[in-house]
Amino acid sequence: MNKHPGLILPAPENFLSPEDITRTAAGRRDFLRRSFELASAAVAATFAASSGAATGDPAILQLPSWSTSLGKPVAARPYGAPSSFESNLVRRESPGLTRVSEASVSFTPLQGLFGIITPNGLHFERHHQGWHDIDPARHRLMVHGLVKTPRVYTMEDILRLPSVSRIHFLECGANTAMEWGRSAVPTVQYTHGMLSCCEFTGVPLAVLLEDCGYDEQKSRYVLAEGADGSSLTRTIALDRALDDVLVAYGQNGEMLRPENGYPLRLVVPGVQGVSWVKWLRRIKVGDQRFGTKDEVLHYVDLMPDGHVRQYTSIQECKSVITTPSGGQKLLRKGYYNVTGIAWSGRGSITRVDVSFDGGRNWRTARLENPVLPKALTRFNVDWEWNGSQAILQSRAIDQSGYVQPRINQLREVRGTRSIYHNNAIQSWRAAETGEVTNVQVS
Ligand code: MTE
Repeated sequence: MNKHPGLILPAPENFLSPEDITRTAAGRRDFLRRSFELASAAVAATFAASSGAATGDPAILQLPSWSTSLGKPVAARPYGAPSSFESNLVRRESPGLTRVSEASVSFTPLQGLFGIITPNGLHFERHHQGWHDIDPARHRLMVHGLVKTPRVYTMEDILRLPSVSRIHFLECGANTAMEWGRSAVPTVQYTHGMLSCCEFTGVPLAVLLEDCGYDEQKSRYVLAEGADGSSLTRTIALDRALDDVLVAYGQNGEMLRPENGYPLRLVVPGVQGVSWVKWLRRIKVGDQRFGTKDEVLHYVDLMPDGHVRQYTSIQECKSVITTPSGGQKLLRKGYYNVTGIAWSGRGSITRVDVSFDGGRNWRTARLENPVLPKALTRFNVDWEWNGSQAILQSRAIDQSGYVQPRINQLREVRGTRSIYHNNAIQSWRAAETGEVTNVQVS
């Protein structure tokens, strides 16, 4: 019997055997020794670099105002905001990328984020015709087509249905598009920042399709349509729609932000962002692909033989080192925690390798928990920089065994006229000065 109320003992099969305990303890000792050595080396290096300065450091010798005065009251800011010292960490639009900002992108500052979750205020934005703050009381979702009972749902109806919460990445098919020909933009915010990862909450689309009685014999596809002026429409295969697609209203524990589709958006895990229809107002069930303007013209790939590849939905396995990355500077030789993110539309990440010499030698990075399917995975690797030029790269492998390709391997298949779906290995060059820049290594 469990004597402690609230303490649940693990099931017997979860207990460790004596051999397991010896193995685990040895592993932990090894890890601790290694961490300690690295940490001591880092501390020694820091002290060595700043010796002399520390003794007269006013940050230590003088009491700052915040230690001698009354702070601000609670609820001085009813909705919290980042520290004023973090004001540089913002979404940024790439100047000149599009003619007007209503049909543009603002990029997530990946270089400044930790873990795998993107804060709502830093989620990238991609609109075809601007965003709106839609009154939820006036918003409706219609489900019709090959269904027994077409229905129109209010937000109140949707919020009463069974819900789930899942963490998924959202990547625009155009992410890294500017890098097909050469290294074009300076920072990871612009090379890879059409990428975010959030916990989304909503109703499985399967629940709504079943509620309306979709025709199980004839139905093959659904069409999703947004309520903005662009009337963005995308076809989604019924199998996928019934699998893990969500009609979502929640993002990281609160309602979606208007820029991200408030009050309702589609979440299509693993699939390119354009299918994640925002301000979702209509789902039509059909027996064939709908072939709308958005799927015929945009987010398609012009292949070397002149054919256009349509309906490329899955975002293939990809990774990028976020620190150090373009625009940053290594301040001195010695220890660095090299960190980055990896993701795959086909499931979970199983391994990430990191190279410091442009792909000649690789070391396996640590994958940090949680490692979730169709979500970002954080990786870390220890690096001792000796002050000479280095080319940093990361290469991810997913559960299907797919290995993230080099840019030349991708070009061999896709030719040189692609815009979308560039999942090539990214290279950052650390010069002897410590300056880190975006370079392409074939
Ligand atoms: N849905 C509507 N209704 N209108 C849009 O312009 N943009 C699409 C998709 N859904 C879009 C939309 C594209 S191209 C992408 S990449 C994602 O939304 C971006 O989602 P976000 O703005 O929340 O990052």
